[in-house]
Amino acid sequence: MKLSQILIVAIGARACQREHIFRNHNRHIKRQNYNTTFPPVLDQNEQILVDSFDSSSISTWSYYYTHGRHVAGENKTMAQWTAGRWAEYGFTSRLEEYYVYLNYPVHHSLQLNYANGSTYTPILQEDVLAVDDTTNYPNRVPAFHGYSFSGNASAEYVYVGRGQQVDFNRLQALGVELEGKIALAKYGGPFRGLKVKNAQEHGMIGAVIFTDPGDDGNVTEAKGVAAYPNGPARNPTSIQRGSVQFLSIYPGDPTTPGYPSKKDSPRAEKSNIVPSIPSLPISWIEAQPLLQALDSYGTVGQAVNRTGWVGAIPNVTYSTGPAPGTTLSLSNILEDKITWIWDVIGIINGTNEDEVVIVGNHRDAWMVGGAADPNSGSAVLVELAKAFGNLLKTGWKPKRTIVLASWDAEEYGLVGSTEWVEEYIPWLKGTAVSYLNIDVGVSGTIPDFSASPDLHSVTTSIAKKIVWPYRGTTNRTLYDVWEEEGGEIGVLGSGSDYTSFLHRGIGAIDLGTTRGANDPIYHSHSNYDSYHWMANFGDPGFLTHKAIGQYLTLFLYHLANDASLPLEPANYGPELHTYFEELDETIASSNGTLDLTELSDAIVTFEDSAQQFNTLRGRALSSNDSDLLTTANHKARDFSRGFASQGGLPGREFFQNLIFAPGLDTGYAPTTFPGITESVTAGNFILAEKYVGKTAKAILAAASILKT
Ligand SMILES: *[C@@H]1O[C@H](CO)[C@@H](O)[C@H](O)[C@H]1NC(C)=O
Ligand SMILES: *[C@@H]1O[C@H](CO)[C@@H](O)[C@H](O)[C@H]1NC(C)=O
Ligand SMILES: *[C@@H]1O[C@H](CO)[C@@H](O)[C@H](O)[C@H]1NC(C)=O
Ligand SMILES: *[C@@H]1O[C@H](CO)[C@@H](O)[C@H](O)[C@H]1NC(C)=O
Ligand SMILES: *[C@@H]1O[C@H](CO)[C@@H](O)[C@H](O)[C@H]1NC(C)=O
Ligand SMILES: *[C@@H]1O[C@H](CO)[C@@H](O)[C@H](O)[C@H]1NC(C)=O
Ligand SMILES: *[C@@H]1O[C@H](CO)[C@@H](O)[C@H](O)[C@H]1NC(C)=O
Ligand SMILES: *[C@@H]1O[C@H](CO)[C@@H](O)[C@H](O)[C@H]1NC(C)=O
Ligand SMILES: *[C@@H]1O[C@H](CO)[C@@H](O)[C@H](O)[C@H]1NC(C)=O
Ligand SMILES: *[C@@H]1O[C@H](CO)[C@@H](O)[C@H](O)[C@H]1NC(C)=O
Ligand SMILES: *[C@@H]1O[C@H](CO)[C@@H](O)[C@H](O)[C@H]1NC(C)=O
Ligand SMILES: [Zn+2]
Repeated sequence: MKLSQILIVAIGARACQREHIFRNHNRHIKRQNYNTTFPPVLDQNEQILVDSFDSSSISTWSYYYTHGRHVAGENKTMAQWTAGRWAEYGFTSRLEEYYVYLNYPVHHSLQLNYANGSTYTPILQEDVLAVDDTTNYPNRVPAFHGYSFSGNASAEYVYVGRGQQVDFNRLQALGVELEGKIALAKYGGPFRGLKVKNAQEHGMIGAVIFTDPGDDGNVTEAKGVAAYPNGPARNPTSIQRGSVQFLSIYPGDPTTPGYPSKKDSPRAEKSNIVPSIPSLPISWIEAQPLLQALDSYGTVGQAVNRTGWVGAIPNVTYSTGPAPGTTLSLSNILEDKITWIWDVIGIINGTNEDEVVIVGNHRDAWMVGGAADPNSGSAVLVELAKAFGNLLKTGWKPKRTIVLASWDAEEYGLVGSTEWVEEYIPWLKGTAVSYLNIDVGVSGTIPDFSASPDLHSVTTSIAKKIVWPYRGTTNRTLYDVWEEEGGEIGVLGSGSDYTSFLHRGIGAIDLGTTRGANDPIYHSHSNYDSYHWMANFGDPGFLTHKAIGQYLTLFLYHLANDASLPLEPANYGPELHTYFEELDETIASSNGTLDLTELSDAIVTFEDSAQQFNTLRGRALSSNDSDLLTTANHKARDFSRGFASQGGLPGREFFQNLIFAPGLDTGYAPTTFPGITESVTAGNFILAEKYVGKTAKAILAAASILKT
């Protein structure tokens, strides 16, 4: 039964209130009858903040961050520089150190051995480009996988598509032998570590993961577009580095699950969180001979008939293989270290010290550059500090405490943010209002947001205050462009530093921009994510940096300064309905049945409590009663803690949020009501039933904080 049907029975008389909430529902906003005021009307403080942004100074910060190697745990100077800038603008800034497990590349090689005795040796590095200085730094970072297994493997190999469980199921159904072979997988779809995990769980002994131009749409050399550095298409030698931690099981230092990594912290066994087979990333041009050697062996790509299986590398059929006698010899040698990393924390105390808003960006990158990931966000954060510095000079003081964070070691597995949250969790549980994340602040021209539902209305209202520089026309706000691009706010999965906050019940937004279909190719985790690329292709003039920075700044300003916190707990109502209906469909297409009454009752109770909260807040505002307003603000601050349950999700204790989590087999993309949904998908209806109870209790816990 659909929740809407249950609701008619259960609440009848409140139907119009529910209708009202549905109209405020911003997840799938379609064209509203909304006319932008242009230029946006700003108050005096907003104007000071917005006017502080200067694209040429952002470009200077970007240049700094992208001209020195800063792999996790490697560049303390850059952390100190960041603290120095923030301090200059009035933030009390310090470094917070953690002592964590990381590994660094020592040696790697790959060889293709044809059955006839010939060999081919793929080149495992990107071309050096004369015009792009950092691609030629002597200390440039080798192409490797963070947290990968140190070792060798030599065997026949099988093409496994994007390497999801369903891909391996398909290979098994086709009778392809996997045991003892090496997996050749395509990037895209699930988080790369899960590709390696799935290969390992099928008895495979190594993995090679390649980039594919099929994910580049029409901006490809095959379609006549010149490649970087001569044009916007992908440079064929670009390689995607990245972590192969099992991100959907546990982020953070794999040797200290659940507690901060200090010098003397006990170290746990990490083998169920990182791979036990070696892996390497390669470019599409070097993958071509590997795929070609499988042509006419096994099942041809088209006939495999799996999503994303066939890519766009010229002259290959994406056949499964294996080709008898044709092998890969892979060597991936790394050095294990327990070493220091440095988070930078900058604080402006608010008048209400028990209300704290946190803004974070990671600083570490897989290459000397990192102009998009993550240092577009880092450059923006320095400019944001400058803007608040200008406001402080007028005598302004925020109502709430503002914390800026520059995380280290995000790339290995959200390590800096996770260890920090694990250390400060008692304080955060009592004070944190929201966490705002900017990672890849700029990689294209399309605004891109994912957020917890309580932040949806502030996400759109602030977007109306920002002038957007792109999309061909003048006089557009960020809101206009976002709405035209579909007007959706995503559900948070994982893949950046909001994860630890969200899974301790702290609402969050992850914001930035993404590539539009005709935007230049962004070479993720490659040496070509460089200042030269950004200044010539990604964001010439740093105009998008400026706009997204102004947006983040006003977002933070309102959360830190509005008398009434601009959070809308009631927006969870329609979201929970949507998740419920999706769950209902998942159950309908499964072989089992599940009674969801407890869950639907909890959602109804939540909606009722959210209405009580709205009434209370309305009364506080109309009577100008500051005690009552504090009560309302604290409810808005605290209610989402209820969604986090001790014990977490099945087999992954870290993930405590029972409303949304990264999919077990996706890593980035979210699943909603994950405890229930994933148990149903796995056919475990006993566990699903248990999680119906747990999820309902979590929703009731949130409701009880809101009710009056
Ligand atoms: C928006 O503008 C159009 C055309 O000027 C007008 O017909 C419409 O009523 C306006 N809508 C709102 C909500 O003001
Ligand atoms: C650290 O980063 C800075 C800024 O990019 C750079 O100047 C410096 O050379 C880097 N340090 C090392 C040891 O690479
Ligand atoms: C071996 O096979 C490969 C792939 O078919 C081919 O390119 C190569 O020329 C062959 N070498 C010899 C010595 O036949
Ligand atoms: C690519 O170009 C074709 C032909 O112009 C068009 O139909 C298609 O929508 C384009 N694809 C993308 C992803 O833009
Ligand atoms: C491909 O798979 C889909 C279901 O996933 C099925 O409907 C379709 O018939 C299949 N196509 C071929 C050619 O086997
Ligand atoms: C594909 O094969 C054709 C015919 O053998 C050849 O002319 C062409 O250069 C190949 N293209 C690539 C990109 O390998
Ligand atoms: C791994 O392979 C590399 C390169 O072929 C070789 O130098 C090294 O000795 C091998 N290590 C082991 C432990 O076999
Ligand atoms: C901010 O508040 C904290 C906690 O009350 C206090 O320890 C710290 O000294 C304050 N910092 C400044 C710069 O006032
Ligand atoms: C853009 O807005 C300005 C006011 O800020 C107005 O003068 C101008 O005519 C507008 N341009 C267009 C193309 O609408
Ligand atoms: C349902 O059961 C059938 C037969 O046992 C099986 O083939 C199918 O995969 C199952 N479907 C799901 C979604 O579990
Ligand atoms: C509300 O109360 C505050 C003091 O608590 C006062 O400064 C403010 O002027 C009042 N506002 C209104 C609209 O009465
Ligand atoms: Zn990043």
